[in-house]
Amino acid sequence: MTDTTAATRPDETGINTRKVFIKTYGCQMNVYDSQRMGDALARDGYEPTEVIEDADLVLLNTCHIRERAAEKIYSELGRIKLLKAEKAERGVEMRVAVAGCVAQAEGQEIIDRAPVVDLVIGPQTYHRLPEALARVARGDKVVETDYAVEDKFRHLPKVTAPQIRTRGVTAFLTVQEGCDKFCTFCVVPYTRGSEVSRPLAQIMGEARALAAAGVREVTLLGQNVNAWSGQDEAGRDIGLGGLLRALAEIPGFARLRYTTSHPRDMDDDLIAAHRDLPALMPYLHLPVQSGSDRILKAMNRRHTGADYLRLLDRIRQARPDIALSGDFIVGFPGETDADFEDTMKLVSEVRYASAFSFKYSARPGTPGATMDDHVDEAVKSERLQRLQALLREHQVDFAESLVGRDIDVLVEKPGRYPHQRVGRSPFLQPVVLDAAAGEIGDIVTVRIESTLPNSLLATGGAVPAAEARHRNAVPAEPIRKIA
Ligand code: 5AD
Ligand code: SF4
Repeated sequence: MTDTTAATRPDETGINTRKVFIKTYGCQMNVYDSQRMGDALARDGYEPTEVIEDADLVLLNTCHIRERAAEKIYSELGRIKLLKAEKAERGVEMRVAVAGCVAQAEGQEIIDRAPVVDLVIGPQTYHRLPEALARVARGDKVVETDYAVEDKFRHLPKVTAPQIRTRGVTAFLTVQEGCDKFCTFCVVPYTRGSEVSRPLAQIMGEARALAAAGVREVTLLGQNVNAWSGQDEAGRDIGLGGLLRALAEIPGFARLRYTTSHPRDMDDDLIAAHRDLPALMPYLHLPVQSGSDRILKAMNRRHTGADYLRLLDRIRQARPDIALSGDFIVGFPGETDADFEDTMKLVSEVRYASAFSFKYSARPGTPGATMDDHVDEAVKSERLQRLQALLREHQVDFAESLVGRDIDVLVEKPGRYPHQRVGRSPFLQPVVLDAAAGEIGDIVTVRIESTLPNSLLATGGAVPAAEARHRNAVPAEPIRKIA
């Protein structure tokens, strides 16, 4: 690879002040990508800023998963246009870049619709960002949306210890990108391309750097993370279970998580990893989307509701205290009242600890968009409301089931008041705790006193290990009895 750093030094590009404002939309992978783009720009002399007015470069890292997500970008670009004009009047130049899945899906169209944009760059080409910005500085409008043949991760600069430290004790690590599942509602296979797994050695290198910089919890990311495949040092094929086993060996890592998974890729070894690895947190985001077999078929999910419930039974046998989370779509084309009731039934059986639910939004280029029988918006809204009320009820029940129990909390950051800290439970709930309970980065056992709307409260300080009861345990009764 040619070193493009020299070509983008301030004196050669004409950009003398170098501050970048990055705004991230959508999923955790975008958060990770924004950090990596920020790292690449830092090597090029850009400092991050939280104040858009101070920025020489505004970078929007976008999401295309639902319609409103893309529309938000265009209204943001409208505001940026005014800001850019204002700055131009003062003789200050501001560049605007759009990255992420809207960039990949719409390409040149973004510049046509919003000429304020100088650069459109898709997720597979982030390693070319400095080079693309150098072309922008020479006055070009640039669109970079090829699916790169080279491995972007190999070309992005390695994340440094000071960069890691400013991000705290938890970190994301992308291990897999893209999706070959082609659910008929979803743009991801088109915006992120086909499934690619990062090689084990590359992942382990980044993971060791994270651990050495004090990271205690790592969340492995992938659009279809449990489809990860690779080879161990002896050349044997391994899956995500094997990768988690390797990561659990790294000293310093106390907690491992992964997201997002497809039910069809939950293999035996991954389920066994939930049984075997104390560091693998008892929380699993496993979207089902619908409880109706007819709709699941139309969505091309390639499993039934019963398959999914059987899978959950196996996972709960391996890890009885596991908390489940899911994604749901209401109002997929052709969804009848009876189909929707099947979703409500499945939700009642599973009793999710947390969940995300959405109205179906037709995405151009996906098979769903051209299907018949689109559901009325008012019907979608009504179904969503009912579903969310039920999901919320279960989430509250789950949180309340923890009151009086002692759970391990990773202390993550200062709280709103000096005497408070905020951490996370094993089940990903925020926990407000007493500052005296432990330092940031510590894992402390605390007794949950009460629930707040979206978090747990534990101000009684740390419970000494010898006194801790029901550590981490969710109710002795399984949440759903195994048939
Ligand atoms: N409409 C509504 N929701 C969608 N999702 C993905 N595509 C669509 C769409 N076209 C939801 C799915 C997925 C989550 C990330 O977003 O539930 O799991
Ligand atoms: Fe989209 Fe997930 Fe289906 Fe892939 S598995 S097409 S990312 S919903």
